[in-house]
Amino acid sequence: MDLIVLADEEWGIGKDGDQIVYIPGDLRYFRETTMGHAVILGRKTLATFPGGRPLKGRRNLILSRDPSFAPEGAEVFRSLEELLAAAPEDAFVIGGASVYQALLDRCDTAYVTKVQGTFSADCHLPDLDARPDWRAVEEGPLQEEGGTSYRRVTYRRI
Ligand SMILES: NC(=O)c1ccc[n+]([C@@H]2O[C@H](COP(=O)([O-])OP(=O)(O)OC[C@H]3O[C@@H](n4cnc5c(N)ncnc54)[C@H](OP(=O)(O)O)[C@@H]3O)[C@@H](O)[C@H]2O)c1
Repeated sequence: MDLIVLADEEWGIGKDGDQIVYIPGDLRYFRETTMGHAVILGRKTLATFPGGRPLKGRRNLILSRDPSFAPEGAEVFRSLEELLAAAPEDAFVIGGASVYQALLDRCDTAYVTKVQGTFSADCHLPDLDARPDWRAVEEGPLQEEGGTSYRRVTYRRI
């Protein structure tokens, strides 16, 4: 499985239960990259989607320990073990912080949109630049949209 994330310079990914920043061009890239694949996410990340609804055109595999949580159009798993037994090889881990943390060591590639600056995030991805088991293998050009500068960096687990 692979992961896809948007992070600031300090690897901050979320603030007050939402994304640190929304970049329309990056949302399109996220959609194109994950379309047709299974996506793995936590219950709190689902709540950040429009209407709290699962993503269309993708199998939504959601982690929650709440036995009454049963959103339409999604599959809910009560433990990592149950989820891993059901997740296909080509699934994308799409957050949030607790799910990235739990599945990082199972991911082969990380597609990171690195945003310049910091956003007072309250949750983070582990710093992949500081991890000996991850290496940046591809770095895209600096892009700018709505006053936000970012580049895409691909990391591989070695
Ligand atoms: N920048 C990005 O690319 C990006 C992407 C996604 C999310 N985010 C941000 O990340 C933040 C959310 O992250 P988060 O860590 O607070 O929440 P999360 O990972 O989205 O969801 C956490 C919830 O998932 C369930 N869960 C997690 N591990 C589980 C396990 N092993 N077994 C069963 N259930 C499990 C639990 O649900 P229950 O409480 O129902 O048991 C837990 O409360 C938000 O700010 C969001 O905007 C950022």
